[in-house]
Amino acid sequence: MVRRERGPRRGNDERSGGKPARGRPERGRPGKPAHGKPAHGKPTHGKPTQGKPSHGKPTHGKAPQGQDAQPRDRDAARRPPVQRATTPPPARRVFPTVTLAAPSPARAGEWLLTTRPGAELDLIEELYFNDEKSAPRPAGASLVAARARPKKHGQTVELAFARQGFLVAETTSASGSEIARAIATALHAASRVPVAWAFDIWVPDSDVANPLNAAATALEAETLREIATIAASWSVTRVPDARVAFSENGLYAQVCLLPDRRCAVGVGWARDAISLAPGGRLRVHVPSAAPSRAAMKLLEAFAWLDRAPEPGDLCVDLGAAPGGWTWVLLEKYRTRVLAVDPANLDKSVVGQRGLVHLRADAFKIEPEETMDWLFCDMAFRPLEVAGLLAKWARRQWARMLIANIKLPMRKKAEIMARVRDILEDGGWTNLRVRQLYHDRDECTIAGVRL
Ligand SMILES: C[S@@+](CC[C@H](N)C(=O)[O-])C[C@H]1O[C@@H](n2cnc3c(N)ncnc32)[C@H](O)[C@@H]1O
Repeated sequence: MVRRERGPRRGNDERSGGKPARGRPERGRPGKPAHGKPAHGKPTHGKPTQGKPSHGKPTHGKAPQGQDAQPRDRDAARRPPVQRATTPPPARRVFPTVTLAAPSPARAGEWLLTTRPGAELDLIEELYFNDEKSAPRPAGASLVAARARPKKHGQTVELAFARQGFLVAETTSASGSEIARAIATALHAASRVPVAWAFDIWVPDSDVANPLNAAATALEAETLREIATIAASWSVTRVPDARVAFSENGLYAQVCLLPDRRCAVGVGWARDAISLAPGGRLRVHVPSAAPSRAAMKLLEAFAWLDRAPEPGDLCVDLGAAPGGWTWVLLEKYRTRVLAVDPANLDKSVVGQRGLVHLRADAFKIEPEETMDWLFCDMAFRPLEVAGLLAKWARRQWARMLIANIKLPMRKKAEIMARVRDILEDGGWTNLRVRQLYHDRDECTIAGVRL
């Protein structure tokens, strides 16, 4: 199922942007291969399994030595993964410096977009890199206003750092009758005949706006009562939520309640919505048995993509410990999982049927059979992780990808654009990137290899 890469590679190495791989042996003095073996040579301690690990073969659901490939060196689990000095691939485009305008609220005819708290600049940079004419500017805490949503080849660009948003039809006071009138006008403008439509009032995710959540709920109820009076024919076609509106090819009316008690109102087709969750806050539930909260990120990613593994699919989980993603893949999707991480997995997953734990550096392994899914949540430098994921596509080791890219730095939008370029160069297509609700300083990227 998997073997460790042998010997230093010559020529193009995906992590080093064309330079020969430079590594550090897992043990021994820096720069000197342990036990006289080459840096990328055989493991210098222990073997991944007793005998050859074989995914989906007899090791599954069997004795611990096949399930959890323990190195003989017990300290290995506690050691941080191997760090390397590598040169990331050069950027293929130049990213302009973005100067921030003064914050001002979104006006009618502009896009109002909401972000994770603190990610306003990331979204502004992303908009600017895609289309300067979108003229983005801060519009309050967790809010950005833009003249347009950028397009590429006639298609609207999916923005990674926008959780939710809409084209503002009107701004109103926070009164049910005012909002109802604005929504009824916008619904009529979008469709002459009543169609399925959903309605949400949300607040931006910020310290000043979050306390208004209860007020937003009350305002929503008040608005619906008013709509029943002034637009009765539309009142009867309203559906419970945006997912239903989407499935019925209907409309999605949104209201953003702002801290100054003003409201931005907009109506668009649900199929064009940035998210189908109010304010883009797609909450998922993870049972307490899950080893980590990271499990929520994967469940949210499946909901966002509307795609998930089938039972029996072969998955590799790079950077798997303590095992939240692996737990989701085993428990909820009944897949077979090769969990790669030098660290320990939680006891709730150890020994589970379908699991092989390989205590290894993900940069040093190669699978012996094609994986259906490549999952990666490795805490490692984003451009080097991108190089690794590109290698998996280039060598046709996996068909589908979901990766969480860690972004503890400034210039997140630029890094994500470069990550995307590296993945595309490797052969991943249909790439989608999003800072999900459960993501922190990170973004989720998904793709397929055709
Ligand atoms: C955020 S945690 C992963 C959480 C996991 N997805 C979960 O659901 O519990 C990041 C993991 O990446 C692992 N990691 C970092 N560099 C690695 C490498 N080169 N190879 C394998 N794992 C690595 C760390 O050991 C750590 O366990």
